Amino acid sequence: MYLSAFVLSALLLCALRPGAAEELHQQPPGRIAIVGGGIGGSSAAYFLRQKFGKDVQIDVFEKGQVGGRMATIDMDGAEYEAGGSVLHPLNLHMKSFAKELGLSVRPCRNSLAGIYNGNEIIFQQSDWLFINIIKLLWYYGLNYMRMYMWGEDLLAKFARIYQYQSYDYSFSSAEQLFHALGGEDLSIKLNMTLDDSLQKAGCSKKYIDEIVTPAIRHDFSQLPRINAFVGALTLTATYTKLWSIEGGNMLVCPGLLEASEAQLIKGTVTSVQENTGGIEKLYKLGYETSTGPHLGIYNIVIIAAPINKEISNINFVGFSPPIDTSSNSYIQTVTTFVHGQINSSFFGFIEPCQLGLTDILTTKNPKLFFDSIGLGDPVKGPPGTLQPTGQKVWKITSPDPLTKDQLNLLFTSYHAVSAKKWLAFPQYNPPGKLPPIILHDQIYYINSIELAASGIELSALSAKNVALLSYHRWFGINGQIDQEDLVERFKSEL
Ligand SMILES: Cc1cc2nc3c(=O)[nH]c(=O)nc-3n(C[C@H](O)[C@H](O)[C@H](O)COP(=O)(O)OP(=O)(O)OC[C@H]3O[C@@H](n4cnc5c(N)ncnc54)[C@H](O)[C@@H]3O)c2cc1C
Ligand SMILES: *[C@@H]1O[C@H](CO)[C@@H](O)[C@H](O)[C@H]1NC(C)=O
Ligand SMILES: *[C@@H]1O[C@H](CO)[C@@H](O)[C@H](O)[C@H]1NC(C)=O
Repeated sequence: MYLSAFVLSALLLCALRPGAAEELHQQPPGRIAIVGGGIGGSSAAYFLRQKFGKDVQIDVFEKGQVGGRMATIDMDGAEYEAGGSVLHPLNLHMKSFAKELGLSVRPCRNSLAGIYNGNEIIFQQSDWLFINIIKLLWYYGLNYMRMYMWGEDLLAKFARIYQYQSYDYSFSSAEQLFHALGGEDLSIKLNMTLDDSLQKAGCSKKYIDEIVTPAIRHDFSQLPRINAFVGALTLTATYTKLWSIEGGNMLVCPGLLEASEAQLIKGTVTSVQENTGGIEKLYKLGYETSTGPHLGIYNIVIIAAPINKEISNINFVGFSPPIDTSSNSYIQTVTTFVHGQINSSFFGFIEPCQLGLTDILTTKNPKLFFDSIGLGDPVKGPPGTLQPTGQKVWKITSPDPLTKDQLNLLFTSYHAVSAKKWLAFPQYNPPGKLPPIILHDQIYYINSIELAASGIELSALSAKNVALLSYHRWFGINGQIDQEDLVERFKSEL
């Protein structure tokens, strides 16, 4: 094979750059495989089509339902969000998908939250924002303001990703990405617990136990020992107007697959290995469908599901160094919908009518068998729509399935129950190293970012990053990978 001096020197240069691929190409790849049809996989298909053009074949493998962890659940004829349910106003990719696909968005219902410590409600929101702030200031001094400023600062740094991506910049690891967004200050937040970071920002232990812990239990079924970054994203959602997609957030996924003209293959990917022998670097994908086992050959493979024995169980055969599939454990959360009458005396109210709350969050208390309970909101119709019976549908999150006895404690009567068990979120345990985005020369891992923070928009952001990164590495456009000084560059351009 003849190699020009130019290609040779480019190859040598590449060898010195961790972000760059070994081979440079003149033509787009022929075939790309995406494993997973959740928001990560379907948005990857969409962004890859934008970058690589109309000729590349994009196959999306999905073993369950398109939409993944955004599935809805049916309860007495109405659909409810059972997984990823609320979006932040700053979730700009999700906003533009909705617009592009002609889906309606709607504000989430208003929340009137209370905090329950296992014996009584210790804090209760009011209908009025102004009163809420006075109450928080009264009970917790300046803690709320400190948390607010701490969270907004972090969010502003993180939001730079949209600017970087709109100029096609990409990152070869989550660490590089976070460093380019907010320097050491942001990187450190990944290795610090939320608890420590808030205390450093001046929040009291009482505030963390009584306000922060319940929010984190509600959103991640964990304690504020999660990393400060994912904690901040969650907390900033507590004081803003959230939204969702009419008809169900998961509608975005089939929409994106269709728009990307990807081929959906209903099957389970079981193995990935290098296809040795040819001139071109190719990967061999083993997968099983209803008709039996099959093999597919691809130039690029994108993993858009958590790499984990219990979840995706993909066998990466013969890679050296090996691709580690054991490291990330995901925690179980059960979402239970109950159509019935809540037991207000359980929450310390004497008269049933006294419980006017829409959401009850909980502090850490070993005797509590659930993390939170709140009114379910059907995905269709105006926010807060009731069932025809006039009885409410409640949504409970708990680490384990609820027993009959537990349901009888929480409800004075009920006539329908529907539950879904998830391996929902990574178990956050900082400090630690984040998994790589580049698993092998042309194998990419979208859910690497989940170990920094898990969420609908984060999977979409990571999918865009992987689409850009794979494109730049394919064609050797190194100036668009791992640029460190973007904050300065964009400042001077303004
Ligand atoms: C109960 C719950 C509540 C949540 N609440 C929110 C919220 O309010 N807001 C928010 O932003 N986020 C929330 N999240 C998180 C959010 O839902 C997820 O971060 C997001 O949906 C992940 O998308 P994904 O595409 O990366 O992964 P997934 O949705 O998990 O998609 C991966 C897909 O890959 C498929 N798959 C796996 N292995 C294979 C294989 N070997 N072969 C073929 N297919 C395979 C799976 O079936 C799955 O469909 C919540 C999650 C849960 C579970
Ligand atoms: C309601 O809660 C109270 C207090 O926890 C409990 O004693 C009672 O058994 C519960 N169930 C009903 C049906 O009242
Ligand atoms: C976080 O800690 C891990 C292990 O302690 C270390 O390997 C990693 O480099 C640290 N990351 C950052 C961003 O400081």
